[in-house]
Amino acid sequence: MAESIDAVKQTALAELEGVQSAAELQTWKTRYLGGKGQLKDLMNRLGSLPAEERKAYGQQVNALKDALTSAYEAREAALEAAALDQALASGAVDITLPARPRQRGHLHPSNQTLRRIYDIWADMGFQVFLSRDVEDDDTNFTLLNFPPDHPARDMQDTFYTTEHGVILRTHTSPGQIRSMRAYGENGTQPMRVILPGMCYRFEQITHRSEVQFHQVEGIAIGRNIRMSDLKGTFEQFVKRLFGANTALRFRASYFPFTEPSMEIDVECFVCGGKGCRICKHTGWLEIAGSGMIHPNVLRNGGYDPSVWSGFAFGMGPERITLLRHAIEDIRYFWANDQRFLHQF
Ligand code: DAH
Repeated sequence: MAESIDAVKQTALAELEGVQSAAELQTWKTRYLGGKGQLKDLMNRLGSLPAEERKAYGQQVNALKDALTSAYEAREAALEAAALDQALASGAVDITLPARPRQRGHLHPSNQTLRRIYDIWADMGFQVFLSRDVEDDDTNFTLLNFPPDHPARDMQDTFYTTEHGVILRTHTSPGQIRSMRAYGENGTQPMRVILPGMCYRFEQITHRSEVQFHQVEGIAIGRNIRMSDLKGTFEQFVKRLFGANTALRFRASYFPFTEPSMEIDVECFVCGGKGCRICKHTGWLEIAGSGMIHPNVLRNGGYDPSVWSGFAFGMGPERITLLRHAIEDIRYFWANDQRFLHQF
């Protein structure tokens, strides 16, 4: 028996020496290592041997298997190396060709704008508070001083759920109440937070309006916060986001949760204020709502409005991105068209 194992080994290795191509190598592998190959034959004889010889025989066959497998691998590597040498020598492979650039992902344009916004507010001492997307009607409206018959409560604007009073937030402002209650320590501590997140509105989807979009809300509460703080702080923000020479203006407005309320415009960065299609020939672009937090809202957040005051603002990063890049259709943001996304 030992002789035949040895004989197989001799012939197999000798034949392997002569193998010159991948096809020949495959034939050799089938003959010796394959499911019906010679190694298998040797293995099959195990059962017919006397019990005392089996162990030694099995070990010898296994050793043969190892020897043939590593000889095969070595031959395969040698053939591949030879093929490559030949290709290089014949000029079939040009190793001076530059490699193809590797495709890398990048942040979505909305996230790029969001992160720039976070950075600027972080430098001014505002921390991020992540409030919930699924809200209750009270926090989204009532606690923010929306009168019961306010039009924003209409079915058109709000996604209701089948559960009574549970809705998708229509704006990030309910986070004002939640963050005041979380960080204000029952109205004893000043606070500065920004509240970024997705908002949802039950609206007709057009090039100007989507059913989902981000907002970044911000509030600052302290013992002596005034309108001049809001104006100065927001001016710093705008200059860092759009450039040091950007002009801005504050326009009187109305929101239920602020008093007084203002809308904030920046000088159109597309035409520099001369008037163009993007700014609808006004020279100005509206980028945020803001105001002094209404006493009722402070109270609902746990603060005594005779001691504490604060300012609030809210803006839409998609709108800002849209304006910055003169993008004409807000639906691009969620359509996931690579041709759009790759431009940022
Ligand atoms: N919540 C408002 C909206 O969705 C935006 C807003 C306006 C937020 C004024 C504010 C603010 O904090 O002071 O239209």
